[in-house]
Amino acid sequence: MAYDRRIALAKDGPSLSRLVLGIWRLLDGDDKPDADSVARLIAAALDLGMTSFDHADIYGNYEVEAAFGAGFRRWAGRRESVELITKCDIMLKSANRPANRVKHYDTSAAHIAASVDRSLLNLNIDYIDILLLHRPDPLMDAGETAEALARLVKSGKIRAVGVSNFTPSQIDLLASRLPFPIVTNQIEMSVLHTDPLADGSLDHSQRLGYAPMIWSPLGGGGLFTGSGSREQAVRTALSTVGDEIGEKDISAIALAWLLRHPARLVPVLGSLKPDRMAGMVRALDIVLDRQQWFAILEASEGREVA
Ligand SMILES: NC(=O)c1ccc[n+]([C@@H]2O[C@H](COP(=O)([O-])OP(=O)(O)OC[C@H]3O[C@@H](n4cnc5c(N)ncnc54)[C@H](OP(=O)(O)O)[C@@H]3O)[C@@H](O)[C@H]2O)c1
Repeated sequence: MAYDRRIALAKDGPSLSRLVLGIWRLLDGDDKPDADSVARLIAAALDLGMTSFDHADIYGNYEVEAAFGAGFRRWAGRRESVELITKCDIMLKSANRPANRVKHYDTSAAHIAASVDRSLLNLNIDYIDILLLHRPDPLMDAGETAEALARLVKSGKIRAVGVSNFTPSQIDLLASRLPFPIVTNQIEMSVLHTDPLADGSLDHSQRLGYAPMIWSPLGGGGLFTGSGSREQAVRTALSTVGDEIGEKDISAIALAWLLRHPARLVPVLGSLKPDRMAGMVRALDIVLDRQQWFAILEASEGREVA
């Protein structure tokens, strides 16, 4: 058995590749990738079946989208063969945004519209597949925000709307003002961060029928580098399961642990190294049995289930 390579996020919602590539770390290294190397990265992702790319306006201090956009133009494939997701509403203190005196959120209609226009320009595209509100904004006027999002969908600049790091009731509030469903909530979850199993996020997504996207699905790298007892116990549990099924790469097992959940989780991978990406994609062919799944949970939580 294996998992489908594509997933519809919601009824009548957009389809993504089951594993999405997150572009947050594109400019993290000392060698900044040029357009050719970004084009090669896009091609490598597509070769592995990953057609969906996750962005935010703020990534790389507001510079990742444009770096990716240059590579996207160089890649010169068909726009319709990929899905581009981006986000707005976090306002960083940055030399690139001198007006931001304090880090804050902005879900005003004016900011959302301006941010989308900038993202379209940076990414070199004329529509965004999914726009996410990046963080819940305590000053969000749900009616104003929903109207702005609906206008953007109507204009064709964005094709669908999602949120990120929202609680179920924050989603319900925004959804109550929107003329169409919210297609995803992008949240943090991994074998090292299991809160969504119990905080209601995954119950809500199943009740409403949207698939959550999962950020830092490998603990942001902590799974490999963490020296705490939790990380060590989880690595051991993943290796033990790996030995049982003949998979040496613990990242594939950690992602298979997410895929096994019935909420139809869509992991957003953070490594941009093709050899690592290739190991992770093997998760799609690994269906853990219940006891393997619970053994990993037990290692993470440091105790048996009650
Ligand atoms: N919505 C939100 O609020 C939010 C927040 C954070 C992130 N995100 C999205 O989620 C995406 C993924 O997040 P993430 O980057 O934290 O995901 P992740 O996949 O949990 O972590 C990626 C990190 O793990 C490291 N890693 C992967 N495999 C490794 C291995 N075998 N050995 C050692 N290190 C390894 C990577 O290093 P290398 O780069 O060296 O391979 C990278 O530093 C981001 O790109 C972004 O799109 C969204």
